[in-house]
Amino acid sequence: MRYAAITGWGMAVPDRVLTNADLERMVDTSDEWIVSRTGIKERRIVGPDDSTTTLSVAASRQALARANLTADDIDLIVVATCTPDQFLVSQACLVQAELGGTAGAFDLGAACSGFVYALATASQFVQTGLHDRVLVIGVDTLTRFVDFTDRSTCILFGDGAGAVVLEPSDEPRGLLSTVLGADGAGYKHLYIPGWGAFVPESADLFPEYRPYLQMDGREVFRFAVRVMGDSAAEAVEKAGLTFSDVDWLIPHQANVRIIDAAARRLALPREKVWVNVDRYGNTSAASIPIALWEAETTGKMKEGDNVVLVAFGGGLAWAAGVVRWGVAGVCQDPACRRRENRLKA
Ligand code: ACO
Repeated sequence: MRYAAITGWGMAVPDRVLTNADLERMVDTSDEWIVSRTGIKERRIVGPDDSTTTLSVAASRQALARANLTADDIDLIVVATCTPDQFLVSQACLVQAELGGTAGAFDLGAACSGFVYALATASQFVQTGLHDRVLVIGVDTLTRFVDFTDRSTCILFGDGAGAVVLEPSDEPRGLLSTVLGADGAGYKHLYIPGWGAFVPESADLFPEYRPYLQMDGREVFRFAVRVMGDSAAEAVEKAGLTFSDVDWLIPHQANVRIIDAAARRLALPREKVWVNVDRYGNTSAASIPIALWEAETTGKMKEGDNVVLVAFGGGLAWAAGVVRWGVAGVCQDPACRRRENRLKA
């Protein structure tokens, strides 16, 4: 059996920090309200020189360096994002233009669930043997689409990117189970109207037509609490594990109350749950790979740990999976890891 181990990881966030105190000066809100309702204290937001591409490239370079690979060794790049820098070409090609190489490259859209969807997709290529080394990026710059006069949404989001490298392993490493779901009928609870091929004949006829993120927070909250717990529990069961086998829960970072509800469903204590929403806000598709990077680089997550990933968001979509962390069973011989050698063989 061939598995798709995670052998490299990286993350990037913009330098610019937007605190709750800054938001207090922009809209009718308070640090106390934001912290008690969401757990968020500050977030990073893109400045004029940042883009979905620059963040993706910075995270990818780290992930490739950690895996001791170059872009030339990569067979496929999959970018999960709902905020590409442009529609034609794909964000994945824009990333490749900076990194180099000739890997296949495509985007995948599942909003905040995008990274787990992309990990599931990319893992199939490695598990089936079609590809050997895949770069998976979760990135979003949603603050470009946030109305900073709307207090119900502008407090929630931040920008960032996370990336991982997948390589084949003959040990059970990487994604062991996958749960994907969506309720398309609920899309209007969280969406950005416009900014696509459909444009109303006259924007005057559609006064509500604005390229800003629209959200019914209460509906999304109810949906999130239900699907985060249910899909995380299903992922554990599908992996043939029990809740007591779970070492870490790495949930999408949207709201600490939603995270706590998911943890309760898996009967996990807070110390097994990764929370960084206080520092980054909701970075959409980037939130899980950023948290993975933190859990690994702080030395908390160890070889062989069972890690539950679970996300929800626009779609309305959800995704969960159990990852067994570590690189056991991955070929470490440079000869088998260089793409040029593999292509010659
Ligand atoms: N500051 C102060 N008051 C506020 C603010 C604010 N920033 N925002 C809303 N309020 C007010 C409301 O106007 C309302 O006042 P009213 O009672 O007089 O009408 C009151 O606070 C309560 O509002 P609710 O919307 O009921 O507050 P709630 O406790 O539900 O918290 C929140 C709102 C934080 C948005 C919550 O519903 C939530 O987290 N929902 C999920 C959102 C989410 O995660 N979205 C991202 C999904 S991921 C993706 O794909 C992009």
